[in-house]
Amino acid sequence: MRVDSLRFEGFRNLEDGEIRPCPGVNVIYGTNAQGKTNLLEAIWLLSGNRSFRGAKDSELVRFGSEFAKLHAEFFSEGRTQSAEIVYTKGKKEAFLNGVKQTGASALLGKLCAVVFSPEHLSLIKSGPAERRSFIDGAVCQIKPSYKDVLSEYKRTLAQRNTLLKDIPSHSELLDTLEAWDIRLASLGASIVRIRMKYVKRLGQCAARYHSGISNGREQLEVSYSSSIPSENRKSAEEARDYMLEYMKQHRRDDILAGFTTIGPHRDDIDIRINGESVRVFGSQGQQRSCVLSLKIAEEELIKLSVSEEPLVLLDDVLSELDSSRQEFLLNEIGDRQVFITCCEAASVERLREGSAFRVSAGRIESDEKDGENQ
Ligand SMILES: Nc1ncnc2c1ncn2[C@@H]1O[C@H](COP(=O)(O)OP(=O)(O)OP(=O)(O)O)[C@@H](O)[C@H]1O
Ligand SMILES: [Mg+2]
Repeated sequence: MRVDSLRFEGFRNLEDGEIRPCPGVNVIYGTNAQGKTNLLEAIWLLSGNRSFRGAKDSELVRFGSEFAKLHAEFFSEGRTQSAEIVYTKGKKEAFLNGVKQTGASALLGKLCAVVFSPEHLSLIKSGPAERRSFIDGAVCQIKPSYKDVLSEYKRTLAQRNTLLKDIPSHSELLDTLEAWDIRLASLGASIVRIRMKYVKRLGQCAARYHSGISNGREQLEVSYSSSIPSENRKSAEEARDYMLEYMKQHRRDDILAGFTTIGPHRDDIDIRINGESVRVFGSQGQQRSCVLSLKIAEEELIKLSVSEEPLVLLDDVLSELDSSRQEFLLNEIGDRQVFITCCEAASVERLREGSAFRVSAGRIESDEKDGENQ
């Protein structure tokens, strides 16, 4: 999958116009606050996603403009297609191949992309909830039915927790607890098994990439760390039975705590480099490389399941990487279409093939290098 043309109108600070990216690596460079991230954000929005900066739709329209329009021509499923989103006050309209869609999320899966922005470092730095949600989001992209299992689990868990809180004052409710336990254990076990399998594949893929970016010096290990011990989750049935038994044994604790102390909502992803926790011991460059490896692996697994290569959008990843890591990233990322922003024009010189675009006060200009390579 690749984008051949991008058009902007009234979008953030970007000057109205069109750019024609190359099928390989596109470097977008310029000093701070010129519009580089805005450009990546535009592509991300056209892929049907919400802004990775958490922006509201109204913030996307250029100050003083009535509307913003984003348009992409892209090659996917063997043909040229188009995606368009128009933002006007209080509403937005999305079009695929000129046909109006029910919402922008209808573009999801048409123009696929994965994005890395500095905010994604929270994947390492924040608590387990962030990592669980990364894995859940990634699984949903390749297994949409997983979303239903997750929401059913969340609902059941909330109901069981409410019951746990009510039991001390209504002891007759104790008898109803078992029915919730059975439902929760069965859903919980499915989630644990699905996540475990996904994390295993993701980890293998990320480790390969990480070894490349670190020149063979770092071994990345990613594993699923569950409140259900590994010897008790060899099959979904075993995991379910373990969770059920645990809930039975720890009923008093759960009632005292007022919440459920076992299940996938307590799990985490363990990420290590050369045996040490990246969160605790990793340097900034290592943490950045590690998130990049996970993002590239996520992209590879999507590609394997939808048989189209998603676009890779990398915002400001080069700044904390040494020159050999930058070199690897720019030149060995494979035959994907990549959009990468950076401040230093020097980074562009490391690019053996591909295009470079300079962004200055919202104006995007294609470099000479671009002409040579297209
Ligand atoms: N709706 C809008 N209308 C006009 N300008 C906007 C709008 N939204 C954001 N901007 C401006 O866009 C500018 C560029 O933002 P952007 O985040 O793309 O910069 P950047 O080139 O990525 O910078 P950095 O290197 O610091 O990350 C900001 O200074 C901001 O004021
Ligand atoms: Mg930026």
